[in-house]
Amino acid sequence: MKTKNFLILLLTALLLIGSQLASAQLPKETEAQKTQRLKWWTDARFGMFIHWGLYALPARHEWVKNNERLTNEQYQKYFETFNPDLYDPHEWAKMAKAAGMKYVVLTAKHHEGFCLFDSKFTDYKATNTPYGKDLIKEYVEAFRAEGLKVGFYYSLIDWHHPDYTVDRVHPQRQDSDTAYARLNKGRDMNKYREYIKNQVTELLTNYGEISVIWFDFSFPGKNGKGHDDWDSENLLKLTRKLQPGIIVDDRLDLSNVEGGYDFVSPEQVKVSKWPEINGKRVPWETCQTFSGSWGYYRDENTWKSPAQLLELLIESVSKGGNLLLNVGPTARGVFDIRAQDRLKSMGDWMKFNNRSVYGCTEAPAGFTPPANTLLTYNPVSKRLYVHLLVYPMGNLTLPAMADKVKYVQFLHDASEIKFSTGKDENKNDLNLQLPVQKPPTEIPVLEVILK
Ligand code: GLC
Repeated sequence: MKTKNFLILLLTALLLIGSQLASAQLPKETEAQKTQRLKWWTDARFGMFIHWGLYALPARHEWVKNNERLTNEQYQKYFETFNPDLYDPHEWAKMAKAAGMKYVVLTAKHHEGFCLFDSKFTDYKATNTPYGKDLIKEYVEAFRAEGLKVGFYYSLIDWHHPDYTVDRVHPQRQDSDTAYARLNKGRDMNKYREYIKNQVTELLTNYGEISVIWFDFSFPGKNGKGHDDWDSENLLKLTRKLQPGIIVDDRLDLSNVEGGYDFVSPEQVKVSKWPEINGKRVPWETCQTFSGSWGYYRDENTWKSPAQLLELLIESVSKGGNLLLNVGPTARGVFDIRAQDRLKSMGDWMKFNNRSVYGCTEAPAGFTPPANTLLTYNPVSKRLYVHLLVYPMGNLTLPAMADKVKYVQFLHDASEIKFSTGKDENKNDLNLQLPVQKPPTEIPVLEVILK
């Protein structure tokens, strides 16, 4: 009898532990299901990032509070002055769409802690500035109206919240453990973790379908913060519960957890090849700025040219990735004229060449790009795209492709490109006869229709 009771007890205990473990898991999904959930995003290839907050006023980097080690009191003047009177997200959305972008991610809250949305859990928000309105609501509606998928960036880091402990990337960072301990006395990260969940709940409940969320960022180690500090796993579960289709970045410090992220996010770098984790290619998106800063930076002048920006986009697609290109609107609420110019140039190119971007990916093995070209490939239409970064003089050889090619044309005007095949050992080479003059498009594209 005793053993029977004991066994029943043991079984109940095991069942209890089992159910707790199960509830601690993120939703399971097969590789194919994940590919399907991400399909709109991998097809889109090109999105707009928007960094906007109080830092648009100092106009010298979104990290200004940190870089200049400003206190909340010193930073307060920006809150009291914030009034983007020209804010018209419909204009923004039109520019994004015209540039060829298919989705958008806006900073609902950046590291400074200021909320663009009307959160119930803080006073530090747009509705309490002279502007007085919820900027997120207007944004969501405007971009949706233009047919873009809408996303949020949410900073895990918070340099304003009273319970957020001072760490090594905080404006009030310290030199010694005792100084940290003194400053952090009374700060309660439990409350801050609650705050994150409350705000994420607001963002993912009050604004309709949200397609992407960008949590930013973890920096584990001494005086740093990682998944335990954010309670990342539960935060992610909450996110997936509220918006089952949402696509999530990889900055929650959950790289070792199954389902802990959807894509990797190399920032401001050109990857050398399609990123892999444990030997497997993973979805990826590079985020990039027009110039050095994410927030509006008046005096920063290292702006990339339209050709460089297009190259970034094509380069990403050629390795199976996306580009999230950032705009930092001014404190009046408009896009910097330099950003407008570049968006316009990209749009001019995309209008005639977007077939080499949407739905495209890395070319299959066996297609070797000639010098100064980038290849992309559409696996559905089975067309190969050759991007001519440097326009060749009269002819171009596509090596070892003759047996695969049916027809070649310029993409921008669908004009035929005549070709001949090589001789002897080069007989599988395809020699294209290109016009001497570079066509009037920033980066000419050859569309190769395969057999
Ligand atoms: C970094 C920066 C931040 C920017 C982000 C974009 O993590 O802290 O300012 O928002 O990258 O990827």
